[in-house]
Amino acid sequence: MTDAPVSTTATATPTPVEVALPPPYSALHRHPMLPVATHDETARMNFLINLVSHVGKDIAPAMPAVYAKRVEPAFKKSRGRDFANTSEVREAMRAEPAYQSWAALRRGAQEMRHQAGRAMVFRQLEEIDAAARRFNDGAPTLKLNPQVQVPKYVSVDNHLSPGGYEREVLAGDIAAGACYEAGHFVTAGGGTGGKSDWPGRTIAHFVKRQFPDFKPKRILDLGAGGGFNALPIAELYPDAEVIAVDVAAPMLRYGHARAKAFGVNNITFLQADGETLDLALGSLDWVQTTMVWHETALGPFRNMLKKIRTLLRPGGLSLNFEQPNFDPDTPMVEKFLRDWDAWYNNEPFWAKLHTLNFRDEMIAAGFTPAQVFEEWAPQVRSAGAYPAWVQTVNRHDAEHAMANARKSTKAVRAKSGMYLFGAWN
Ligand SMILES: C[S@@+](CC[C@H](N)C(=O)[O-])C[C@H]1O[C@@H](n2cnc3c(N)ncnc32)[C@H](O)[C@@H]1O
Repeated sequence: MTDAPVSTTATATPTPVEVALPPPYSALHRHPMLPVATHDETARMNFLINLVSHVGKDIAPAMPAVYAKRVEPAFKKSRGRDFANTSEVREAMRAEPAYQSWAALRRGAQEMRHQAGRAMVFRQLEEIDAAARRFNDGAPTLKLNPQVQVPKYVSVDNHLSPGGYEREVLAGDIAAGACYEAGHFVTAGGGTGGKSDWPGRTIAHFVKRQFPDFKPKRILDLGAGGGFNALPIAELYPDAEVIAVDVAAPMLRYGHARAKAFGVNNITFLQADGETLDLALGSLDWVQTTMVWHETALGPFRNMLKKIRTLLRPGGLSLNFEQPNFDPDTPMVEKFLRDWDAWYNNEPFWAKLHTLNFRDEMIAAGFTPAQVFEEWAPQVRSAGAYPAWVQTVNRHDAEHAMANARKSTKAVRAKSGMYLFGAWN
């Protein structure tokens, strides 16, 4: 047996190639309600997260290129004019094989994410439900109200999740919350961090740094779901009472148990509809909404903004994390791509919301124009054991890159952080 030949030629140390792979499912912070993935389930989740990243990072940028090279010139040639609206763009793009492939992959990945997450949750639902009950049963910080009617716009299968937020599999269960956390990890390309809380963490640090004299004592997180983004706020403001309100009981049960498991004890989870929420007027220092408005409808959105204003004390803060509106110079192809979720990801209000102007909406809700603001908060993630979280892509990155290439204020500034709009009351 001979030894393998050893090269004596001096070679330069190779420069390590940085590959921004998304994090594996195993990088999610564990807690007793998080479904445990078997080897095969882990492999499936990891395949899906890489698929979502690949579709978002490598294939999506081809869409504006296809539009510019083929779709727009062909339309102009045949019609003798520009596209009049995004419906015309959609019709034209649908004939393009590159678009068909991208759209089918994007839709398929989303469908598969739900099925993979649900299979994993349902396989162990009794165990994780029992774990939640140990935190929830008799707890005064979980206030459910079976009289609450889930509004129609919530009971659609938002973002294609079967059963949405409120459907129960076992009576009184947490399935919807567990499915949300497992699947969201895939949809967000791992970008929400180890504790699924990138927006809340970003918001909490932004408020703390930007407004050091603001010492909120009573904070409402409206449409809090599983409380993922209420937790970092409650942690950074430990002296505050946080009220996490949602219409969907399974999300609240999951969120309450998860908060307790993480040792966060200053949140009350309350089942209520934001439109009819019965809290004392002027009793809140800060009302937060995170990724809520695109899953409402025009009337309720406006009613809830008004409601928020009346619930805030003078000098209180309304802060909202949402998709930025379109700018006057947003090109047609960008509008079409950013509206995609309304057509193919079951987010019915998503496209309409893009056409509103949040500043105007806040003023119409009663906030003083000079007190209304838009901000871009530097992003903060819980990297935990997987520092590469911060390099991962999310499925909207190609759209954001397009926006960032423009000159208008919102788009250019969006580069530096997470878009927020709000007002001081
Ligand atoms: C996309 S989820 C976001 C959840 C949470 N804010 C987060 O960041 O993880 C939207 C949530 O808003 C809730 N929601 C929608 N309309 C509501 C309303 N009128 N009152 C209370 N909750 C509402 C839904 O039930 C859902 O849990």
